[in-house]
Amino acid sequence: MLSPIFYAGEEENLLAFLSDQKATQIILLADANTNGFCIPLFRSLFPSLSNCSRIIIPQGEVNKNIDVCNFIWQELNVLQADTKTIVLNIGGGMLSDIGGFACSVYKRGIEFINIPTTLLAMVDAAYGGKTGIDFQGYKNHIGTFHAAKAIYCQPQYFDTLNERILWSGIAEMTKHALLSNEKDWQNLIHFQRNDFLSIEQIKKSLAIKMKFVEGDEHDQSKRQCLNLGHSLGHAIESYSLQTASPLLHGEAIILGLYYELKLSEQYFDLPANISALTKSLKEKFFAQLQFNFNYSDIAPFLLQDKKNHEGIRMSLLKHIGHCEHGIIVQENHIQALFS
Ligand SMILES: NC(=O)c1ccc[n+]([C@@H]2O[C@H](COP(=O)([O-])OP(=O)(O)OC[C@H]3O[C@@H](n4cnc5c(N)ncnc54)[C@H](O)[C@@H]3O)[C@@H](O)[C@H]2O)c1
Repeated sequence: MLSPIFYAGEEENLLAFLSDQKATQIILLADANTNGFCIPLFRSLFPSLSNCSRIIIPQGEVNKNIDVCNFIWQELNVLQADTKTIVLNIGGGMLSDIGGFACSVYKRGIEFINIPTTLLAMVDAAYGGKTGIDFQGYKNHIGTFHAAKAIYCQPQYFDTLNERILWSGIAEMTKHALLSNEKDWQNLIHFQRNDFLSIEQIKKSLAIKMKFVEGDEHDQSKRQCLNLGHSLGHAIESYSLQTASPLLHGEAIILGLYYELKLSEQYFDLPANISALTKSLKEKFFAQLQFNFNYSDIAPFLLQDKKNHEGIRMSLLKHIGHCEHGIIVQENHIQALFS
């Protein structure tokens, strides 16, 4: 079942929804940044929840790991959380991924509500029920499917984001437009920065994701189309996390999208102007993005879970609005992209 989404202005509805859940306790989970930047706004929007207990974890992808999960579980114990406790995950995609995962297995599963505070989390990560942590350098290697009980989208949270983090959300919005239709794609390529932040566009982007999640919550078929850009994107991100200049998730995804669109040209005759336009979007909205790597740097991450005896499985685009999943790509074709 799809989780209800409450938008800015619907605070009373969210409170009524929460009250219907008859929780024994509500706990706020934030990272060090969202604790400082986002909890004050949360408290002003929801004064009746101001005094809820709080668990604070360190921020950033490097902390999306089992040690931090362990810390969350210990804190839940200290707070005597029971199976009717509800956790509010207040943060970006890292926080909803790890918070969702920690909740999904604590006492065999407690409920959580996602309150995304980045553009990327609002249009993508907070929704759809994939939770997880990174393990041994591999992205989202351990995880569960456990949908948030609800999501609350409040664009005022963007006010405290630095530019780099804010615009990294454009990558997933670009992917959604590619998966949608020609009209959405044409609109997106003409967007100015602030267009991406309008509630109308956030809803539209999320609605595209929902179409792929609905009916395939466990990622067995059409949902895999949402992996467009992510096979290479995750490998690039994982490698970058081992370097002195780690990429943000969205930065790795815009690179992954570009390379997977190049592969789509090769495998499906996708017109070359689509990868060219994606490259222009990258140059316009990710102007500072410079990351040098070779195929051998990302290969271990790519091959770890994607390779079988025939090749590497990916989701590729046939044309705008038509993605094929499970396409076997030859490793030498990928290698050639980077030579
Ligand atoms: N589960 C899914 O379906 C799904 C989908 C896409 C991405 N993801 C995951 O999402 C993560 C990326 O999410 P992200 O880009 O939001 O990164 P993030 O959660 O790491 O947030 C980026 C940084 O911004 C800070 N921050 C967050 N909100 C803030 C605010 N309002 N003001 C000031 N600082 C703030 C955070 O503390 C962090 O330092 C990755 O781990 C990725 O794998 C998950």
